[in-house]
Amino acid sequence: MPGYLLEIRDLVVKYYTLSGVVRAVDHVALKLKPGEWLSIVGESGCGKSTMAYSIVRLISPPGRIVGGEIVFDGRDLLRMSRKEFRRILGRDIGVVFQDPMTSLDPLRRIGEQIAEVYMTHLGMKKKEALEKAGEVLERVGIPRDKISSYPHQLSGGQRQRVAIAIAVALKPKLLIADEPTTALDVIVQDTIMDLLQSFKKEGTSILFITHDLALAAERSDRIAVMYAGKLVEEGPVEKIVENPLHPYTQGLLKSVPDLWGPKKIESILGYPPDLRSPPPGCRFHPRCRYADDRCRREEPVLRCFGEHCVACHKAGSSEVEG
Ligand SMILES: Nc1ncnc2c1ncn2[C@@H]1O[C@H](COP(=O)(O)OP(=O)(O)OP(=O)(O)O)[C@@H](O)[C@H]1O
Ligand SMILES: [Mg+2]
Repeated sequence: MPGYLLEIRDLVVKYYTLSGVVRAVDHVALKLKPGEWLSIVGESGCGKSTMAYSIVRLISPPGRIVGGEIVFDGRDLLRMSRKEFRRILGRDIGVVFQDPMTSLDPLRRIGEQIAEVYMTHLGMKKKEALEKAGEVLERVGIPRDKISSYPHQLSGGQRQRVAIAIAVALKPKLLIADEPTTALDVIVQDTIMDLLQSFKKEGTSILFITHDLALAAERSDRIAVMYAGKLVEEGPVEKIVENPLHPYTQGLLKSVPDLWGPKKIESILGYPPDLRSPPPGCRFHPRCRYADDRCRREEPVLRCFGEHCVACHKAGSSEVEG
C-alpha cells in the first residue's frame, strides 16, 4: 500500500504555439494522501488546469507533457496503455469542470448519462443502471423524478450536481474539481462545496482547483500555491493561512476582502508574466517588493520546513513577514 494516492513528480507541460512555447507547468511536484483535500490556488493562467488535465491525460496539441511522472495508486498514469487508463478514469478518478456542459451531453436525458457510467464500467443492464442513477441523483441533492430531464431543464447549480453525480457514481478514490463553483452564486457555491466535502468524508481524496484562496482555506487539508507555472508554496492549510512564507501567498491573502474588519483590499501589483518568456531568476521578482539581485538572477528551489515548503530566497528571513 503506497503512502500517497497521487504523486506528481517533476511535471513539465508546454504548449507549442505559433508565437512561441508556453511553459505552462514547469517542474512541478505534488503529493496527495488518501482521504486528503488538496487545493491548488493561483491567478488565472498560472497552469492550474493544465496540471489537472495532465493527470487525466486531456492535454492535446498544441499542448504536450514533456516530462515527469504522475503516479496514481502506485502506477504511472502517463505510461500506461490507453485501454488501461480508460478503466481508471471514471472508476478510480472522477473529474468535474467549471462548466458542467463540458461533461454533459445536451441532447441526452441526465439519467441516461449517469446510467452509462454503470453500464460501461460495471457492465450493468440499462434498467439496473437507471435505478443506480436515481440513487446517485438523490445523493447529490436532485429529486429522483428529474431523471428524465435534459440538462437545459435544470439550473446551473443542478447541472453541476449532475456532473458531480457522474464523477462520483463509482465512488472514485480521487475527485478532481477544476473551479467547479466559479460560475455559481455564493449560496449555491457553498452547497456544492458541502457536497464535495461529504464525499471526502466517505473516503474520496479531493484535488480542488481555484483562484480563490479564501474558499480553499475553508475546506482544504493542504494548499499548494502556483505562480507562473511553478509551485511556490505548499503546506497544511493552517500554515499557509497563518504563516504564509512566500510574498505571493502573502499578497493573495491580503487580497481577500474582510467583510467585518477594516477594508484591506491590497492586491498584488502588476500581472503574471507571459509564459512564453518568463522572467529570469524568481518569476515573481518583478512584482515582489523584497526582490534583490539574487532574486533577479537565480531561480529559487523549493525548501521545506517540516511539511511547509516554499520557493523564495528570502522566505524565513525577518525581512519577509506575512
Ligand atoms: N490550448 C492552449 N494553447 C496554448 N496555450 C494554452 C492552451 N491552454 C492553456 N494555455 C496557456 O497555458 C498557461 C496556463 O493555462 P491554464 O489554463 O493551465 O491556467 P489556469 O491556472 O487554469 O488559469 P485559469 O484560472 O484562467 O483557468 C497560460 O499561459 C495559457 O495561456
Ligand atoms: Mg483553469
